[in-house]
Amino acid sequence: MADITEAPEWSALAEHQAALAGRHLRELFADDPGRADRMTVTAGDLHLDYSKHRVTDETIGLLTALAERAGLRERIHAMFAGEHINVSEDRAVLHTALRLPPGAELTVDGQDVAGDVHAVLDKMADFAGQVRAGEWTGFTGERIRTVVNIGIGGSDLGPAMAYEALRDYADAGISCRFVSNVDPADVGTALADLDPATTLFVISSKTFGTLETLTNAKVARSWLVDRLGDEAAVSRHFVAVSTNAERVAEFGIDTANMFGFWDWVGGRYSLDSAIGLSLMIAIGSEAFREMLAGFREIDEHFRAAPLDANMPVLMGLLGVWYTDFFGAQTRAVLPYSQRLSRFPAYLQQLTMESNGKSVRADGAPVVAQTGAIFWGEPGTNGQHAFYQLLHQGTRLVPADFIGFAEPFEDHAADGPGMHDLLTANMLAQTSALAFGRTAEEIAAEGTPAAIVPHRVMPGNRPTSTILVPKLTPKTLGELIALYEHVVFVEGTIWGIDSFDQWGVELGKVMAQDLTPALTSAEPPSGAPDPSTAALVRRYRELRG
Ligand code: F6P
Repeated sequence: MADITEAPEWSALAEHQAALAGRHLRELFADDPGRADRMTVTAGDLHLDYSKHRVTDETIGLLTALAERAGLRERIHAMFAGEHINVSEDRAVLHTALRLPPGAELTVDGQDVAGDVHAVLDKMADFAGQVRAGEWTGFTGERIRTVVNIGIGGSDLGPAMAYEALRDYADAGISCRFVSNVDPADVGTALADLDPATTLFVISSKTFGTLETLTNAKVARSWLVDRLGDEAAVSRHFVAVSTNAERVAEFGIDTANMFGFWDWVGGRYSLDSAIGLSLMIAIGSEAFREMLAGFREIDEHFRAAPLDANMPVLMGLLGVWYTDFFGAQTRAVLPYSQRLSRFPAYLQQLTMESNGKSVRADGAPVVAQTGAIFWGEPGTNGQHAFYQLLHQGTRLVPADFIGFAEPFEDHAADGPGMHDLLTANMLAQTSALAFGRTAEEIAAEGTPAAIVPHRVMPGNRPTSTILVPKLTPKTLGELIALYEHVVFVEGTIWGIDSFDQWGVELGKVMAQDLTPALTSAEPPSGAPDPSTAALVRRYRELRG
């Protein structure tokens, strides 16, 4: 069945939702005291509590039946086997092959995928080892102290997020910076206080044709050559990560210093490919491989666990439940870890570039709502900013809370350790969101009657809590793989191609057409519409 909304399982869920919508989480817990223990699932080091969701066992049964109807099991098998499930680009989707263990075998479309993956990993490890040991030096013989990754989208967000997450593991005295925006302020700020003699640029671009990346890379190259006074310096200070050797060579980077990957790795799924090179240089190849082992652990869980005990499946189905049956438009991701400050931004590309689609894989328009808007900030900062709306606003915002038992470092002022304070806040928020406070409870505290309605906390706001022993390379890999598969589950239910991104192309082409209109001395022409033409004129006046 192409249109999932016509399936009997969809109607059954709609009916079930109508019956459940009026029930409060307080009632669900009162009626079912075992749900806190039962509605949990463990995958690798990740523990998920989904008891604070507006579901019963029946809901989970109906949702997993929908997944069966959508052919989820077969789709999982097809992805891991390398079938061309990216139909609009006729490609395999094999980011899971990037973390195959050494010695694994996988041949797809005549390519020894597993062998190629490990050959690149070994080459990365060799290079990262040389840089970390000070054997790979800059042009003047000095060791590398700073790695600047230049890339955008998937060629930036993954390594930038993971470097921030794992900076406590950067143990070779090498730090990383990330330049992505074509705004001159980005590259300008990154280079301002850098010593070219100790800086290595990693130019990361799957296509090596992305305007922002090539522009930033050219600016960085001029900066380096101007300061070191020799074009020959480029070969010691620039390496490339790409699938396109020809363009890398055209840019002037020796392809011996290029780290490859393949068209079956989507940009937003590429952190664990050579796109992770800057991260590997910072944390070392061993830690990088631990991260891959984390990814792998969740891959294996995703493949093998029954649907109703499968963490990515449950989280994906809960996403569908709120998006399509409760009309929720967004999903908050709230890591209680400052180190995961870039995780929501990373997830925005992963989820919204993947599932922001309004046609199905077969080209027909979708009937149901698809990808939710992902957003978030680390707790506790978010608590003092937008949680008010989560607690008392009119919108339903399902949220994922992510916390860690062990901090990398802890401090105490005059009371409990800071990490315990952080975790107490996380747990307090999920409890308040679920159970709230009634008018009676508030009045009983002596609150004046006129104020009571303002202080009522309605509760019934659904959350997942993911509890992790510690933020390590391995658990970070587990968290990323978890969300990769959540996206896959949702995309499968909606019947969309989660692996293309045609929607971002038009704006790129139009920007290229508009650039001459902004800079030429001729009267503006070429603007696509009257409003844009007027803005071009205004911009040119302001620019003098
Ligand atoms: O514009 C979207 C996009 O194509 C992303 O999917 C991709 O991650 C990003 O641009 C960067 O592309 P590239 O790695 O080819 O420079």
